[in-house]
Amino acid sequence: MSDSRVGYPWQPRVREAAAFVRERTRIQPRLAVILGSGLGALADAVERDVTIPYREIPHFPVSTAAGHAGNLVLGLLEGKPAVVMQGRVHFYEGYSMGEVIFPVRVMRELGAGVLLVSNAAGGLNREWRAGDLMVITDHINFMGTNPLIGPHEEAFGARFPDMARPYDPELVSLAERVALEERILLRRGVYVAVSGPSYETAAELRMLARWGADAVGMSTVPEVIAARQMGMRVLGFSAITDMATGEVVEPVTHEAVLAVARELEPRFVRLVRRIVAELPL
Ligand code: HPA
Repeated sequence: MSDSRVGYPWQPRVREAAAFVRERTRIQPRLAVILGSGLGALADAVERDVTIPYREIPHFPVSTAAGHAGNLVLGLLEGKPAVVMQGRVHFYEGYSMGEVIFPVRVMRELGAGVLLVSNAAGGLNREWRAGDLMVITDHINFMGTNPLIGPHEEAFGARFPDMARPYDPELVSLAERVALEERILLRRGVYVAVSGPSYETAAELRMLARWGADAVGMSTVPEVIAARQMGMRVLGFSAITDMATGEVVEPVTHEAVLAVARELEPRFVRLVRRIVAELPL
């Protein structure tokens, strides 16, 4: 049996985890949020009903990466019932793709119809600067695998889900309008996902830029594919934490990435709160 079959079937585990969460809260989330590296502060904007460490939830993967808290937070965000992942797990941590997308499936099972996802990413677009925010308009899956590989489970959706518009155009427009109103510079662009954990070589970065990608990172795409299979509407943001053009003299470090993410965090939080306030939920 190949690795991709480990955990199969997932549906009973997803149900079990969701039932566990439901017993601890009266919140019926309409919105699911995944907070990436150094962007966990949005969770502080939630009027919390409950905070559940991942390790307490049956079958939930536990984040090991620095900058990822590892709590599931349920409460009201700008008055909207929400379930927030403070920290995610990555493929590079050694989790199977099934494990990486498990939390999204649980949040869908809890009732969330919209997924708001964020990450820290390297900027490939030469017009941009570290510290910029980007709304994701499309992605390239260059992780070398797909989270839906394995026996098909009808409960999650189609065997061959459409990926023509993974990021909801209406929600992208909403984000851009709010950014204008808030006078926050919001870039728009294509996110390419690599497996990591090593950063890209200069040759790899040149290749990714020529492919049409504006930002590169090690997450998000698996969760978005899983969310789209389940029919969720997706809105995604990248915090450009370093310029990954292959020309920088300073090598990129995880510490530097986290430092820039923390610096732009208040701007990110302000933008997302205003967007959530206006989400058609
Ligand atoms: N490359 C890949 N992932 C990243 C980067 C990068 O430059 N910055 C933050 N996450």
